[in-house]
Amino acid sequence: MSAVACEHRDIAIRPMREADLDEVLSIEREAYEFPWSREIFRDCLRVGYNCRVLESDGKVNAYGMLQIAAGKARLLNLCVRNRLHRRGLGRRLLAFLIEVARARHTRSLVLEVRPSNAAARRLYASMGFAEVGVSRGYYPARTGREDAVLLSLALQ
Ligand SMILES: CC(C)(COP(=O)(O)OP(=O)(O)OC[C@H]1O[C@@H](n2cnc3c(N)ncnc32)[C@H](O)[C@@H]1OP(=O)(O)O)[C@@H](O)C(=O)NCCC(=O)NCCS
Repeated sequence: MSAVACEHRDIAIRPMREADLDEVLSIEREAYEFPWSREIFRDCLRVGYNCRVLESDGKVNAYGMLQIAAGKARLLNLCVRNRLHRRGLGRRLLAFLIEVARARHTRSLVLEVRPSNAAARRLYASMGFAEVGVSRGYYPARTGREDAVLLSLALQ
């Protein structure tokens, strides 16, 4: 992908770099009760996953990560800075990542989401994702584990 493949007014989406990780981690820790560690983000960068950051007003305010292998794409993370929720940034970044997956001729884009994550589930439903299954006890939770809903978007 080119460095800046989606730009509109003050929004730009570009590859994530190791230098972004302090900012990315601060967004991650604010957003999730069980955030990824720096090592997980580093590994994703090292193995060459499609890791993108969205900058608005010159600042990293969202990021998303795609794993593409064997004709399938998987959304590993999509996160927008808490105070900027509901301004269209998540939709914009997801639409961009869907086009990245499509450009790689993948058959589908799959992801896991917590059943309790109403905001994300509405976003994915509005982008055409369909429920294809449930992974029992996939996520850590305050008490025990929480299932994951598996979603898939056909790309061909
Ligand atoms: C899920 C997330 C990425 C959405 O990003 P966002 O920038 O706030 O979403 P957008 O403004 O682009 O909204 C897109 C659509 O998502 C849905 N949505 C977003 N926030 C919502 C909320 N609080 N309640 C209900 N629906 C919501 C709506 O359908 C919305 O469309 P609309 O505004 O036209 O009604 C964001 O809430 C987030 O980062 N959450 C924490 C991390 C996370 O849970 N990531 C998903 C992991 S699977």
